[in-house]
Formats: sequence, structure tokens, C-alpha cells
Amino acid sequence: MRITSRITLLGISAIALIGVVSAKSGFGEACDQANQHLDGGSYNLVTDCDATTYCASNGTCAYKGCRKDIYPFGYSGVSFDQLPPLCPSGQFCPDEGDQCLDQVAIGDSCQKDRDNECAEPSNYKDLAGFLNTNGTVCLNYTCYLADITLGQTCVTDNTVYTAYLDDGSAYAFIVSRDNCANGMYCDGTALQCIKMKRQGETCTGNKECLTYNCAADGKCGKAADDPIHPPAWQYVLIGLGIVVLIGGVMITLWFTHRSSRKENQIRLEQYYNEQIAYRQSIMSMSHAKNSLLSLPPNTSPDVARSSLYRDDSGWTTGTNDALLPPNVRSDSASGWSDGDGAPKERGLTHTDSEVLLMHTQGEHNRESRYMDAPEPRRGGRGYRG
Ligand SMILES: *[C@@H]1O[C@H](CO)[C@@H](O)[C@H](O)[C@H]1NC(C)=O
Ligand SMILES: *[C@@H]1O[C@H](CO)[C@@H](O)[C@H](O)[C@H]1NC(C)=O
Ligand SMILES: *[C@@H]1O[C@H](CO)[C@@H](O)[C@H](O)[C@H]1NC(C)=O
Repeated sequence: MRITSRITLLGISAIALIGVVSAKSGFGEACDQANQHLDGGSYNLVTDCDATTYCASNGTCAYKGCRKDIYPFGYSGVSFDQLPPLCPSGQFCPDEGDQCLDQVAIGDSCQKDRDNECAEPSNYKDLAGFLNTNGTVCLNYTCYLADITLGQTCVTDNTVYTAYLDDGSAYAFIVSRDNCANGMYCDGTALQCIKMKRQGETCTGNKECLTYNCAADGKCGKAADDPIHPPAWQYVLIGLGIVVLIGGVMITLWFTHRSSRKENQIRLEQYYNEQIAYRQSIMSMSHAKNSLLSLPPNTSPDVARSSLYRDDSGWTTGTNDALLPPNVRSDSASGWSDGDGAPKERGLTHTDSEVLLMHTQGEHNRESRYMDAPEPRRGGRGYRG
């Protein structure tokens, strides 16, 4: 798509100003109004003064009294409210920027392409379009109304700007303006207003197209600000892509979470087993001590010693049992029994081990016995006889 004239113009004027700005006079320095002219390539006003000053009639550069752009060139680092003011409605700021002036009547002179220097007509709303300013247009330094209708004689103003390619080579860029009403252009040879062409029709210049874009293939192309309309399959593809992506993320997360959950479970089980084993070793030690110290008075040392190996001793089960992981040993098969704790009842006393374990700690003096179910699985057997 070809660059629009406005963008090119901006680029050209920026290049031109940057190129010469270092040699300019600052505020209070000498200048000559006779040196003021329009640049040949960009039609930008060139003076002896820098971007923030104009050449006053007394031959020195003075600060600008108005600005024509909302964000004027040369004021970087200046806060917005310190900029020279914009001109009120009905006035304009000339290219020099010295002061606001009243808009001129149709037919009077205006500066190059300064449509807004012309006083707007009362029906400006009907005439206003994107190729004029409030229905007026400045052609050949003269104010015109953009109101010529189909087949009527029109005025056209062709300006050749110098544009540059990336490699620095210059080429001519022609902008043709006219005073035809909206939707029409001034034919260069017949000098009559003709209807603008639709997209796809052959053209020789931007102004012939309703889209203001005569493409390289010689046909009216899309407007520069035309939004892109993607075909339906692209919507479907992107939608599917989003769904697949979300699904993939969720499945990946599910798998990672599952493996970490498994690891955690194993860790917890190990910790639990360790704690139970540890608790039971302590219980066994404490119980063994109690059994030894609670022998009846006047027991001879031999009897006391032998009681350790007798069947009626308090500790009736294999010592290794405490080291078994608790989930191997079933709660229903073992438990604490309060009272006489006759060994004959072993295996039949079914009590809730958790509750009774707590209970036993409080009643330390009472004879409490740890009863184990007759588990032939391992251990125990050798001690029981
Ligand atoms: C020249 O004119 C400008 C604008 O009228 C003024 O600000 C400035 O002081 C004058 N300079 C001299 C030296 O008179
Ligand atoms: C067009 O006219 C209206 C009403 O006078 C004014 O507010 C507006 O600034 C004008 N537009 C331009 C670009 O001058
Ligand atoms: C531009 O205007 C001048 C007078 O101001 C006239 O002599 C000249 O022929 C005009 N040029 C065009 C292309 O209309």
C-alpha cells in the first residue's frame, strides 16, 4: 500500500528541519526576513530562526506567539502548558508562528495547503470532508470552497514533493488537490468534477479513489485505515488452538500433580509408620520396666529373673513386634487390656488400642498389659515356647 501524503509530508518536514536546525539563530539573534522561503522538496517554511522562534520585523529572532500543531516540532522537554497557544476558532496561526490572525475570505490568499486559513462557510458541515478543512481548501495560494459538483469546472493544484526511499534515493511524490465536493475529483485534463472510483476500478492517482489509495496494480485498493477482516476458518483455527492449549495445560498439570501427590502420600506413610514404631518402642520399654519393678515383695532374684522368660510375664509377645510397621499389624488383633490381664484371654480381648493407649499413661500404677493376638506370622513364637 502506498504511503499517504500526510505521513510522507511529516517525514519530509522532519528530515528537512533536523538537517538545518543546528545552523539556526536562537532567541535575540540576527535574522533576515528576506531569507524566508518554502523548502523546494517539502514546502516547509524555512527561516533563519530555530524551531521555537520566528524572524521578527526588527531583524531578530523572537519567541513564537502561537502554534498551529497540538504537538509542535522543536519543543521537546517543554511542558504542555508552556507551549505557545493554539489560536481560537475563527483565527489561525500562520506558518511563521508570530501571532494569531483572522481567517480570510474565500478568494483571498492563503499559505501553502493551509486550508484552515480560509473562513469556513455557513454550510461547512455539508461540505466538510477528509480532503478539505471545514469545506474550504487552499489551492495555488488561494482560498476555495470545496463545493463544485459533477461535470462543473474545477481548479486543481498538483504539488510535487520529494520523497525518499530507505536507501536515500529521492523520488517525486505528486499530491493533487481540487475544489470538487465530497465523492468527486477534478479530472486533470478535462478540469471537470468526476465521481470517485470504487475499490477494484482502475485509477492513476490516489485522489480518484474513494479509499484514497491507488494501489501499485493500477486499481483502487483498500483504505489505509481499513480494518483487516480475517476469514472464518482463521477464527475456527484460533479457537481450536486456544481449546487445545488450555486442554494441554490442564492435562499436563494433572499428570504433574498426580506424581507429586503420590510422592507425598509415600512420604506421609513413611513418617506415620516411623512415628508409630517409635511410640511402640517407648511403650515396650516403659512396660518392661514396670513389669520388672512390680514383682511381689520378697521375690527371690532367681524367680524375678526367671519371670522374664516365663509365659505369665507381662511382656508376652515377641520383641520384634514393636518394630513391625503398624499397617502390617491389625488393630483388631492386638490391644491393651486393663485389670488382671490374664494371658489366657489373649487374642480375645478386643479393645480400641488408640483410646486405651492414652488411658494407660494416666493410670501408670495399675497393672496394664499389652495383649497381642496369636499371630504366627513372624517373631513371638520362640519366646512363647
Ligand atoms: C524585536 O521584536 C520582538 C517582537 O516584537 C521583540 O520581542 C524584541 O524585543 C525586539 N528586539 C529588539 C532588539 O528590538
Ligand atoms: C471546523 O469548524 C468548527 C466550528 O466552527 C470548529 O470548531 C472546528 O475547529 C473547525 N475545524 C477545523 C479543523 O478548523
Ligand atoms: C496560480 O495562481 C496564479 C495567480 O495567483 C496564476 O498566475 C497561476 O496561473 C495559478 N496556477 C494554477 C496552476 O492555477
